[in-house]
Amino acid sequence: MRILLTGADGQLGRHLTPRLEVLGEVITSTRRGGDWPCDLTETEALDDLLDGARPDVIINPAAWTAVDAAEDEPAAAAALNVELPTRLAAWCAAHGARLVHFSTDYVFDGEPGRAWNEFDPTSPVSVYGRTKLAGEEAIRRSGAHALILRTAWLYSRLPGNFLSAILRRAASGEPLRVVSDQIGSPTWAGSLARMTVAALGDCLPRPEPVTLHAVDRGCVSWHAFAELAVTMAAERGLIDEVVPVAAIDSAEWPQKARRPSWSVLDVEALEQCTGCTAWTTRQALATCLEEWKEEAC
Ligand SMILES: NC(=O)c1ccc[n+]([C@@H]2O[C@H](COP(=O)([O-])OP(=O)(O)OC[C@H]3O[C@@H](n4cnc5c(N)ncnc54)[C@H](OP(=O)(O)O)[C@@H]3O)[C@@H](O)[C@H]2O)c1
Repeated sequence: MRILLTGADGQLGRHLTPRLEVLGEVITSTRRGGDWPCDLTETEALDDLLDGARPDVIINPAAWTAVDAAEDEPAAAAALNVELPTRLAAWCAAHGARLVHFSTDYVFDGEPGRAWNEFDPTSPVSVYGRTKLAGEEAIRRSGAHALILRTAWLYSRLPGNFLSAILRRAASGEPLRVVSDQIGSPTWAGSLARMTVAALGDCLPRPEPVTLHAVDRGCVSWHAFAELAVTMAAERGLIDEVVPVAAIDSAEWPQKARRPSWSVLDVEALEQCTGCTAWTTRQALATCLEEWKEEAC
């Protein structure tokens, strides 16, 4: 099986690479490197990549993920989040290839009183959420043999995500202020890579596009997650001491894009499809921090 992995240097891409290499020949692509460098917004370069690599499966974590910047640059966000999946899906439909694409909890808004499932109505409140939803819809229309995995609050030990930012500040002894009125399902990029590989084997039997939620099993605020991360990082010696984490409202931390106050995703359908139990927030965070510690040694 020939697998094309886009966004191979992103946080999910890096966790996917070693897991995919067990399944077949992996052709990695990043903007300026990997096996096949490609700016995925350049149509000709993308066509060359697809026709040259001729993958059996395309795994597409590449995306515009800067949620606030998308408000000012909707066209650039759409190029990655709508046009790219549209083209990938069209290529897959024309060549009998399969597509695995990633979407977001930010397609939802409201408070259903339970975790969102795959049949709940979407209602994105940001440019990022709207472009990701439009990308999903384009894939569903394409007729491609595709799997759309909606994930949430991705973190890893790489720079540029919530966990690494919180622990960098905590390491310098700074007290933290973190919003407590947004509740979601923080998900380690390593867990998502594990779920992706399981779903690739088990959830793509039907030719029509399938949408599944793929998150760690949890329901916490950013504040509760930060407190847990600081405590568990201190226990493992990744930071010197537990710093105080103050709970604040979203209004005290203004951001350009609005975020849903409740974006907990129900992972049960994916568990049933794969037979693989999602890790809990604590289990996934512990595994991430243990790997972090091993790398630091
Ligand atoms: N991060 C989250 O909290 C979160 C939450 C829900 C859903 N998701 C979804 O999960 C997926 C993976 O997210 P992630 O956090 O792993 O993303 P990430 O770390 O931001 O990685 C995205 C990758 O896309 C690449 N990329 C962007 N523009 C490109 C272009 N024009 N040409 C080639 N490559 C380009 C980036 O490369 P450069 O570094 O060169 O730009 C980067 O490697 C995405 O679909 C995202 O929407 C993420």
